[in-house]
This record gives sequence, structure tokens and C-alpha cells, in this order.
Amino acid sequence: MGFSKDFLWGTATASYQIEGAWNEDGKGPSIWDDLTHDREGFIEDGGTGDVACDHYHRFREDIALMAQMGIRNYRFSISWPRVLPEGTGKVNEAGLKFYSDMVDCMLENGIRPFCTLYHWDLPRAIHERGAWNNEQMVEWFSEYVTLIAKTLGDRVKDYFTINEPQCILGLGYDRVEHAPAVKMGKRDLVRMSHILLKCHGQAAKILRELVPDVHIGYAPCANPMVPCTNSQQDIDAARKAYFTVPPEGFLWNAAWFSDPAMLGKYPESALVHLEQYLPKGWEKDLALIHQPLDFYGQNIYTSNMVRAADNAYGFEMVPHRIGIERTLMGWPVVPDSLYWGAKFLYERYKTPILITENGMSCHDVVVNGHIHDEARIDYVKKYLRGLRRAAEEGTEVAGYFYWSFFDNFEWKMGYTQRFGLVHVNYDTQERTIKDSCYAYKKIMETNGENLDD
Ligand code: FCB
Repeated sequence: MGFSKDFLWGTATASYQIEGAWNEDGKGPSIWDDLTHDREGFIEDGGTGDVACDHYHRFREDIALMAQMGIRNYRFSISWPRVLPEGTGKVNEAGLKFYSDMVDCMLENGIRPFCTLYHWDLPRAIHERGAWNNEQMVEWFSEYVTLIAKTLGDRVKDYFTINEPQCILGLGYDRVEHAPAVKMGKRDLVRMSHILLKCHGQAAKILRELVPDVHIGYAPCANPMVPCTNSQQDIDAARKAYFTVPPEGFLWNAAWFSDPAMLGKYPESALVHLEQYLPKGWEKDLALIHQPLDFYGQNIYTSNMVRAADNAYGFEMVPHRIGIERTLMGWPVVPDSLYWGAKFLYERYKTPILITENGMSCHDVVVNGHIHDEARIDYVKKYLRGLRRAAEEGTEVAGYFYWSFFDNFEWKMGYTQRFGLVHVNYDTQERTIKDSCYAYKKIMETNGENLDD
């Protein structure tokens, strides 16, 4: 029992959070370059991704370090404006060469590359043309995806289309916490969701056509709903809450962005109140949106608690208990998140679940050259025990990618949060291996058999 023999253990990062070199070798500006440069006070500590982990210049050492620490699968993302500075049209050969060299370096180090096509660094030029709110976005995205498939497809066989549509639209255009930080109304947000889903479908289609032996996934998020007790009523209530789209906050639900992609339809609970905002003829787009996928990726960090209730919905959210353990982000530690998340998602979508991100930000301090991040080790083991339980009960779980290999630029929170298995000193760019990295190496080596130690 335990995890399957071919379980994929890995780590994840994203281009803007680690690369730096924001304007080097022909790279075009992204919405994150603009937000961090132009909006004073927006980022917690005033940080930018201008240099970040300087991975652009240090990728060979970084990938060698990954290999040394037993990482065999690495999820990275591509910066669209680095390869297409204007979003479409003129190709930046130097940018393409960077990713091509990086992939070669991974393969030389025995690391399997998992490429995320879109992890938030939208070209400024595309933003100025309306991005997700312009039907032509599907063509622009196709041009970009085709370029990547043709360049890397001979060596990269694993792709994720879009990372966290919930955050792209929810944080970028509703809560205004992420780039481009432009507030949009409900009508636009629904339309943008639909266009984003079409981009996902189109990307999957292109990859399937152009890349032999490809595996394709999607990497949405949405906090799992965890039942307050193990009673059947609470379990049913949690499942229902996970996939019921509320009139407000609809962007944060699991079903809104996943049912169309995985089942070829919008959830009924959404259509009741959102259909009026969908673009005309939306039904005929569902065939494009619903492409066969090999993995159903999911980023999971925490959960909401739910119980059965005597109201119109049949469920209600329950606050986390007072004093619950929290990460430095303030996110409640709910070890059963991966258990219930994987289980409910697999039941509904019947596609192997890949945990594309999970991890903990801590207040890590280097003491005499070491970082004793016991809390992170404990978090990873607890969460993985839940995932293992799901696997043992019949959920197909394809893998787990820890977020992140090294500390990096955490979006609005700048450099105040450290999620890495490897510490980065941003003054010197020195890397220091944390205790959790050694622990994760052991977990991978034993295929998770040491989780109870
Ligand atoms: C996820 C993002 C990732 C990282 C983690 C902590 O929402 O996909 O880039 O910021 O959270």
C-alpha cells in the first residue's frame, strides 16, 4: 500500500518569482514588472521581481542543486514576454534559448521537466489589448503555446496550461491584490472566465497535436471543503459546498473553472445566476474547453470547514478553531486538506490527481549555517499522510510537487514569506539547504514510507 511505484515527487516554481533579469536579452515588460515598478506601496516590502533569485543567470547551479537533493520532477513556468516581448509577433530567440538550455540542463541532471505555460506574467502588450476580456486572447495565447510546443516539445512531454485561474481573475481583477490590479464587474469577470477557459482548451488541443507522447494537465486551486466530523451528513455537506457556485465569490469555487474543462458543462448552481453574463453562444465553446487531460492538477494549501445545516444550501461554513496552527501567510494548517481535496476531486473528475503545489511559509532563520525548519517538515508529513490515505482508499494520485524549491518573490507579500526548501539570501544570492530539504529527500527516496517516523 502507500503511494504507487511511479508516484511523481517534485518541486515547483514560477518564472516571475525566481528568474529576475526582468529587462535582459530582449525580454518585454509584463504586468508584474509594471505593478511592482509603478505602484508604490502595493507590494508589502517594496520588493520587485527585477532580480528575485537571479535564476536566469544561476539556473545551472540551481538545477544541479535540485538533482543533488534528489528532485526528479520539476514544475517551472515560462515567461510569455521573455519569448514574445510584444505578446505576439516578433520572437525573442534569446528568451527561447534560455528555456531550451534550462530544459537540456534538467535532462542532463536526470530531472523530468513539467512546464506551466501561464503562471501570471502576462505581457504588457497583451494587457493593453484587453487580455482575458478580448475574444482574440484565444488566438494570442495559441500563438504563444504553439511557439513553446514547437521549441520544447521534442524534450518536454509534460505541460500544465494555466495556473490558478481563480487567482488570475479573483486577485488580479476583483480583489485587486495582484497584477494588473484593475477592478472589473461581475459581467466582465464571467466573460473573462469563459475566455480563459477557451484559452485552456485551445492550449491543450495544440499540445496534443504538436507534442508526441504528451501529458497535459491544468493547475487550478480553490480551498477544499473539509467536513467538521466524519458523519455522513457532514461529508455530504462538504462535497456539496466544494462544488456549489455561490452568487458572490463565484470565482473561488472549484466547480466554476473545473466543470467546463473536466466535464464539458458549467455547474447548474452557477448557470442559475451567472448564465446571463456568459457571452452569446457560450454552449458551443464547451467542446473546445473540454479537452481530454492526463492529470488534473491542483494547488492546495489550506481548507475551509463545513458542516450540514438546515438552510437552503444544506451546508454552512464553520470558522476554524481558535488557536489553530497557521503558516506565516496566516493560512490555517489543515492536514486533511489533501485527503478530502484529492478524494472529492477524483470522485467528480475521474482523472489522476496531481498536487501541483503544497507548502508552508515559515519564519526561517539561518543559525550557524543551518535552518532547522521543523514546522515545515511536520506540515509536509502531516499533509502527505492525508494524501496517502486517499491513495490507499482508491483515489488515483499521480504525484506531489512541493512549493517551492527555493524562497522567492511571493507576489503581493514580496520577500516577506519564505516557502522554500532552500533558503535564499537576497543580498548575496547564497543558497542554504534547509532541514526540510533533507527531510523531503528522504520522503522521496522511501516513496513516502517514512511519513510516520
Ligand atoms: C500559489 C501560487 C504560487 C505561490 C503559492 C504560495 O497561489 O500559484 O505562485 O505564490 O501560492
